[in-house]
Amino acid sequence: MASRKLWGGRFQGKQDPVALAFTESFSFDQQMWEEDIDILKAHVTMLVEKQIVQKEVGKKILTTLQSIHQEINESKLVLTSEHEDIHSFIEEELTKRIGEEASLIRIGRSRNDTVVTDLRLYLKRELSEILELHHQYLEALIDLGERFQDVVIPGYTHFRRAQPILFSFYCLAHFAGGMRERQALEFAHQWDDVSTLGAGAVSGTSWPIEPKISSKLLGFSETFFNALDAVSERDFLLAFYFACNLILTHFSRLSEDLILWSSEGLAYVDLPDDLCTGSSLMPQKKNPDPLELLRGKTGRMFGHLSSLFMLLKGLPMGYNRDLQEDKEPLFDAIKTIKESLYMMTRILEGLSLSKEALAKVWVDDFSLATDLADELVKSGYSFGEAHAYAGKLVRHCDEKGKFLKDLTAEEIKKMIPKADGKILKFLSIPESAKRRESPGGTGEKAVSKALIEAKAWLKEKAPKTR
Ligand code: ARG
Repeated sequence: MASRKLWGGRFQGKQDPVALAFTESFSFDQQMWEEDIDILKAHVTMLVEKQIVQKEVGKKILTTLQSIHQEINESKLVLTSEHEDIHSFIEEELTKRIGEEASLIRIGRSRNDTVVTDLRLYLKRELSEILELHHQYLEALIDLGERFQDVVIPGYTHFRRAQPILFSFYCLAHFAGGMRERQALEFAHQWDDVSTLGAGAVSGTSWPIEPKISSKLLGFSETFFNALDAVSERDFLLAFYFACNLILTHFSRLSEDLILWSSEGLAYVDLPDDLCTGSSLMPQKKNPDPLELLRGKTGRMFGHLSSLFMLLKGLPMGYNRDLQEDKEPLFDAIKTIKESLYMMTRILEGLSLSKEALAKVWVDDFSLATDLADELVKSGYSFGEAHAYAGKLVRHCDEKGKFLKDLTAEEIKKMIPKADGKILKFLSIPESAKRRESPGGTGEKAVSKALIEAKAWLKEKAPKTR
């Protein structure tokens, strides 16, 4: 049976099939079938409570909506493609079952407010899963830091070895970003958690409705402030995309580090075999494809943020069909962020560090030059003098093909009059990292304290759904 349109009255003849195919959203908004039914139920309950719809009729609508829900859930009712959108499908199904009384669901409501409330409810439900996955990622980060708490890795600036740091300190750096990611997700949730149901098409309604009732029934914390704004803004999606982009930008940096640190030459990170791939031609290859894809997905997510800004820019106030373009990127963003969070968690859980490879990394190393300068200050030099002497020692080593650890007490004394052999005992890579106990630093005690704080934060922030 051909579907009946929600707006046929004013038109003569059939809609051009090309226009119909171009404008339909059923092929993708059918994902929100459950939200659409929930919203209609909340709206009808409110209409009954406000005595706009008779109790008996309301009951009939509600039980029919419930059976439609059940049948779709059990795949007894198939979501067929001949509809303009999911809202038309549900209303037509309701009409087929109870007749014209079905159209009472349109009182004080239009597709313009429904479509955005559907989207808000859909995202709200997904956000609780995303928060859980994000929490698991942060737990994996802290577990990883604790597993290799004392391992010392190079701390880089300009991707040149700068100062030795604890690997756990590096994990805590990503955790710091993770706490901001969480704030961004909470902010996105706060902006999303507003019901827009009852805004109507553009200006509210003359029916004595109470949108707060349906808002509460749907579990929203707030209700829209202005009907015109409610149907035409999508700022809550911008906030969500910002949070997703923040997470993926951080992931792309973490991925980049792990790709470099696991590559030949450095190889002090070992990626789990079962998460890597090989080459069809080169038998030796163990490629870090999931990390490369995580890095790559950042671009795709940024596309969603910028495309929505472009969609909203210059849009006349009010609902415009352009806004239908909000859905497909959102569904993609939700899928992408969930998969990315899960993937990164799995990688961190399977990752290990090679102390042997790190020992090789430290052989040709000058990362202790700052420690040397610091010690020379203690021998009575200004920091400027100490810096210059340490620099000269590095050049001397360079010329002689030596490293700092190969220097003798005599060599040092010859170049730096106030220095003595004691200075050599400060040239220890592990000691260097563990010594920097300033607040938020890589020192052993500072890191242990930070790990305790991080775990307390995780406990406090554990999603309520657990
Ligand atoms: N399918 C549309 C959307 O997703 C909602 C339909 C509202 N259509 C309209 N002509 N007012 O945005």
